[in-house]
Amino acid sequence: MLDAILTHTEAGVLTLTFNRLYKKNAITAAMYTALAVALEAAVSDDAVRVAVIQGAEQAFTAGNDLADFLNNPPNTAPGGEPAPVVRFLNILRDFPKPLLAAVAGPAVGIGTTLLLHCDLVYAGDNAAFSLPFVNLGLCPEAGASLLLTQLVGYPRAAEKLMLGEAFYAEEALEMGLINRIVPPSEVNAYTQAQAAKLAAKPVASLRATKALMKMANTHLQPVMQAELQHFGELLRGPAAKEAISAVMEKRRPDFSKC
Ligand code: COA
Repeated sequence: MLDAILTHTEAGVLTLTFNRLYKKNAITAAMYTALAVALEAAVSDDAVRVAVIQGAEQAFTAGNDLADFLNNPPNTAPGGEPAPVVRFLNILRDFPKPLLAAVAGPAVGIGTTLLLHCDLVYAGDNAAFSLPFVNLGLCPEAGASLLLTQLVGYPRAAEKLMLGEAFYAEEALEMGLINRIVPPSEVNAYTQAQAAKLAAKPVASLRATKALMKMANTHLQPVMQAELQHFGELLRGPAAKEAISAVMEKRRPDFSKC
């Protein structure tokens, strides 16, 4: 079977590629582990100066694998061995080197929230971002309840997080979620070119700059912990079961009893 996460390091750039296009790059527990292992190893690997997360021209990622949510819900309680998704979110938050993302097509759920931790994000004009947590009977993760609100202000963050409707590249650019829009066929190459520029810069200066820019976010860790607690409880609740089953069965959910 093909690896669902491809890892490649060249000229100082670690590239992590979602490679499960037949499922729109939906992320399984094994994929979170692969991403986390690669990023954790990159922290102390001098051969990695910059990291890039990318998908394909047709899809960045459809977010968490919905079958995994139903059959293998992550343990998000504090203490013990962190679930793969939690391990990934922790290193995403704490990754000390520049992290870039190249987004084309759908970027659903964590496909959008992970961007809030990236330093530079480039998107194809076909990019479709969405935060459908409430529609799935869930709540935000990855610190999005704090980071998105800081980025775009409360009313707009509430609209995105509560209604969960898709928004597109132009709006994402205007919101400050992404740096630039490029043709979908060029988004990965453009992002690699930007990563190469960063890989040629002094590592310690970049690390210090990133650490300083993140320093004010002292609430991020407790907010992420609170999000995970709510998320874990909601995931095991009736609304999430109904919503996720409905998406998988391609029908409308019935929340009349939730
Ligand atoms: N988990 C598991 N499988 C998924 C998936 C997900 N998050 N997203 C898509 N897939 C699967 C589909 O079930 C389908 O599988 P099948 O061919 O075996 O039926 C395949 O990927 C293609 O998806 P499809 O819906 O036909 O593609 P599309 O281009 O019409 O739509 C999306 C793409 C991403 C907009 C749509 O698939 C979608 O909304 N997915 C659910 C996203 C979601 O809710 N994620 C959780 C966020 S917390």
